[in-house]
Amino acid sequence: MCGIVGYIGNRNITTVVMVGLERLEYRGYDSCGIATVNGGIRIRKTAGRLQRLKELLNRDPVTGNVGIGHTRWATHGQVTDENAHPFTDCKRVIALVHNGIIENYRELRKRLVKAGHRFVSSTDTEVIVHLLESHYKRDMATAIRKAAAELKGAYSLAIISAQEPDRLYAVKMGSPLVIGQGRGEFVVASDAPALIGIARRMLFMQDREIAVLTRKGVSITDFTGNKVERAFTRMELKPKAISKGRYPHFMRKEIFEQPGVLKQNIARRFKGRRIVLDPEFLFYPDEIEKLGRIVIQACGTSYHAGLVGRYYFEKFCRIPVSVEISSELRTSEFVYNGRTIMLPISQSGETADTLAALREARVRDIKSLAMLNVRRSSIDREADSTIYIYAGPEIGVASTKAYTAQLFTLLTLALYFARIRKTVPDNRINEIIRHLRKLPEQMKQALNLDRKIKETASRLSFAHDFLFLGRGINYPTALEGALKLKEIAYVHATGYPAGEMKHGPISLVSETVPVIGIALRDPVYEKMVSNLAEAKARNGRIIAIGTEGDKELAELAETVFYVPKAPDYLSPMLVALPLQLLAYHIAVQRGCDVDKPRNLAKSVTVE
Ligand code: AGP
Repeated sequence: MCGIVGYIGNRNITTVVMVGLERLEYRGYDSCGIATVNGGIRIRKTAGRLQRLKELLNRDPVTGNVGIGHTRWATHGQVTDENAHPFTDCKRVIALVHNGIIENYRELRKRLVKAGHRFVSSTDTEVIVHLLESHYKRDMATAIRKAAAELKGAYSLAIISAQEPDRLYAVKMGSPLVIGQGRGEFVVASDAPALIGIARRMLFMQDREIAVLTRKGVSITDFTGNKVERAFTRMELKPKAISKGRYPHFMRKEIFEQPGVLKQNIARRFKGRRIVLDPEFLFYPDEIEKLGRIVIQACGTSYHAGLVGRYYFEKFCRIPVSVEISSELRTSEFVYNGRTIMLPISQSGETADTLAALREARVRDIKSLAMLNVRRSSIDREADSTIYIYAGPEIGVASTKAYTAQLFTLLTLALYFARIRKTVPDNRINEIIRHLRKLPEQMKQALNLDRKIKETASRLSFAHDFLFLGRGINYPTALEGALKLKEIAYVHATGYPAGEMKHGPISLVSETVPVIGIALRDPVYEKMVSNLAEAKARNGRIIAIGTEGDKELAELAETVFYVPKAPDYLSPMLVALPLQLLAYHIAVQRGCDVDKPRNLAKSVTVE
């Protein structure tokens, strides 16, 4: 978590760094700060969001052309001004910002305090700057190398020094860091969106690297001092992709982008009769034929996508699948045979638990195929093979378009495997693809429910508890609907398999607990309707998602959101949309910060 930015060039760093931080705020927004070197180190920092830092800078500006900035997601130490980055050493010569966690900070701090260093915060980060101070003899790169030999954990750093006012240092170990090159200027940041507007070309740093940036160029060495040669590549990311455009929130924009994302993905993956995967997909057909098991592991929304993925692989490929929560899997004593592949799913590719579980798989010699949105992310680099979901940048903390893109990609992969394993005849695969091609239009129709959902949301925003019920392939959809509501509207919601209600949770049903039931005309329809009737008989207020034209459901439910008829295996991609909109409207009506819900961050790089 946390976002860092560094800049060296001729622009005023306040503008550059603040714009960069705004684009990284999705990584954390507990506190923020900026430092520049201009006749000494100048720092402004504060608890709270960037708006507070802006106000501070208006009252008490700093100027300079070399500087660093930070937006924090608190791990060690409360959310206070003192714990906000940047940090300086005792003599205020060095200033740095950090993304990551220093695991051995307690022992380092003890040692440094004993040696006379004065600490002002309770963060793990502050040990880094004092450690650098203890090694710094006018050559920062050497000091960084010596400090790196003592630091344990993850640390991306941007560093400035009053003794080297025309240099910016960047260090990567564990957490992501990218360098952007403009004309006579460079910017470093935790993520590429922060480079837009300055950089024409970019370069992803690798672990154990130190970059020294001047206005004229960059030189990179590794932690042992060896020079590293690596070329910049063209920056593809366009400003439009990271702006809200006409939408009030990124989440709303991203919800409405889904038909377009799916349409592009269909065109990318299905060419005539061919199913096209990425060049990074490195499995031979005979490995797929012999596959004995797939272990999907992921967190949050990506985990829910994995649960749907299980249906696809079991239904179409006849491969046994287990779906694991990464944080649980990584600490379990899991045993799988040699014909297993691990499939980590992650939008960001940076989720610490997913990465750790992937590493556990490597220790056990299990081959991996990652499903990711962000290229060159940590999981991308460590997995044996990758398939991308091509959702485009997802900025709202709540995952929406990445979810449906994950579902589509899981289905694509299942069809690709099915063709190789001959578990589905070709004409059936072609029929599935034909249905898929209709889906973007059907998604647009589902989005037309927006107004009705908004009205319903205003009737439901009183409620403190919700039940989301689904069965079969839409049980994970119920989980996902509940997660969306919890995370952005701060309302308690439980997703449950409808058939399991009678074993306990039905006692929760009352007139104050809305029941959101997914009851499509699919093989579990009758059973689902019975479960909703059971809830209604206990005074439950039923809000249903049903198939267009289903009048029976209207008799049971207070409100029905109708989605177009589609095969059951495609329905999770359709039903997700009204559930996302429901959470969105309830959150807006409750006055919540939809794009930046409290306590959360987009990439969860802590365990
Ligand atoms: C989704 O709305 C959440 N913000 C969260 O559950 C997320 O899906 C989870 O943290 C996993 O992230 P990843 O896909 O980037 O690994």
